[in-house]
Amino acid sequence: MVDAEIRELMQSFVLSDYQVQELYKRFNDEISKGLNRTTNALANTKCFPTYVQDLPTGDEIGKYLALDLGGTNFRVLLVTLKGHHEDTVESQIYAVPKELMIGPGVDLFDHIAECLAKFVEKHDMGSAYLPLGFTFSFPCVQMGLKEAILARWTKGFKCPGVVQEDVGRLLREAIHRRGDVDIAVVAILNDTTGTLMSCAHRNPKCRIGVIVGTGCNACYVERVDRVDLLKPEFKRDKKHVLVNTEWGAFGESGQLEFVRTEYDREVDRTSLNVSSQLFEKMVSGMYLGPIVGLVLLRALENNVIFKRDSKRMEFAAALRANPNSFHTKYISEIESDLFPEFTITRGILQDLFGTEKASIEDCLKLKYICECVAQRAATLIGIGISVLLNRIEEKDTVVGIDGSVYRFHPKFDAYMRKTIDKLAKDKIYDIMLSEDGSGRGAALVAAVASKQK
Ligand code: BG6
Ligand code: GLC
Repeated sequence: MVDAEIRELMQSFVLSDYQVQELYKRFNDEISKGLNRTTNALANTKCFPTYVQDLPTGDEIGKYLALDLGGTNFRVLLVTLKGHHEDTVESQIYAVPKELMIGPGVDLFDHIAECLAKFVEKHDMGSAYLPLGFTFSFPCVQMGLKEAILARWTKGFKCPGVVQEDVGRLLREAIHRRGDVDIAVVAILNDTTGTLMSCAHRNPKCRIGVIVGTGCNACYVERVDRVDLLKPEFKRDKKHVLVNTEWGAFGESGQLEFVRTEYDREVDRTSLNVSSQLFEKMVSGMYLGPIVGLVLLRALENNVIFKRDSKRMEFAAALRANPNSFHTKYISEIESDLFPEFTITRGILQDLFGTEKASIEDCLKLKYICECVAQRAATLIGIGISVLLNRIEEKDTVVGIDGSVYRFHPKFDAYMRKTIDKLAKDKIYDIMLSEDGSGRGAALVAAVASKQK
């Protein structure tokens, strides 16, 4: 339905079968490298063993506080696990001002402790002692369930004074500095772990947890004997351990160069963490909108879109002046829009450029750009999921998933499944959307940990 010019512009986003197979192989090699003690230092995907070795059984009970930092929203939650009955979750979103995301770490942790204290006061829990699970969605070397050393910041955070520090200690110290609440940080976990645990609570076949949101990552249940990285204090009598792959870092040794486009390079060049998280920058919410924005800019400059509009170069100047004005949510909205009215697409174009004159042809072209960028992202994630599915012994597996890109994009799930069906042919799998993953997941990790004691 779109012309050859726009197809040609988008050609570099269309992955061939050869490229998909080659990416699968490189991804799989990278995970093997990450799991092996001698090659781990060279691996991009660090495959951090978590200290979570048991999945929930369903009989977990108790009241837990949870913190969720690293996605679109910073949240404080109160989760009541009721064994085989439906849990209850109360939560509150708090803002994290931009300055705190890149300012001194101590200020960020003081802010977190302040929000926690406000939440406790609001829920009248002042005098109660409560265990807390901290979902901290950044790459961490776990030294134990309560000790997690930040390896690097990712996404929109870059606070000095936190890398190489134990974020559990930083949180405990901030709580202590306030002195007004009695909270024990009993577990620190990644959002992928939270997602896996909360989905496994609902469906015991769940073995993989994936996030496709602001950032992108996955964890999975691996056999202990295959995780050469494990420290001696791990319970080797247990058969399994959850491994946080940190697959967003894939590509940092050049493995993605044969598929990266000039737009991916530009997005990386202007990011907070240049040359890092290259896979993440091709697939996740923080970057997909800006990629589409750059492609749209090129389409305007090359007279491929808005061809007959005298204001075309003004539109280009507007995008150039504000390169991040194309929000990732627009991609989902445009792909959900109805032909031929294109009411939502026209509204977006009006917000971006002030134009009311977008033609059906222009709307179709913009939709095609969005489709190509989103489909490439979903294909890449499908490759990663297939690699993990094929590593798991069980034939029949459930993949727990969360994040705004997956949740709101109308075709992301279908695009992903198309790839998985090709690459994990021998597996029976299902994909399950996680509900309140990090809150329930943090509570479950804390509950499972207290059972172990
Ligand atoms: C939320 C989880 O639902 O999804 C968070 O509770 C997670 O822990 C988030 O980080 C990821 O999605 P997004 O789109 O908010 O980054
Ligand atoms: C980034 C983080 C990772 C997290 C993911 C999704 O990739 O490094 O820890 O799981 O974003 O939030």
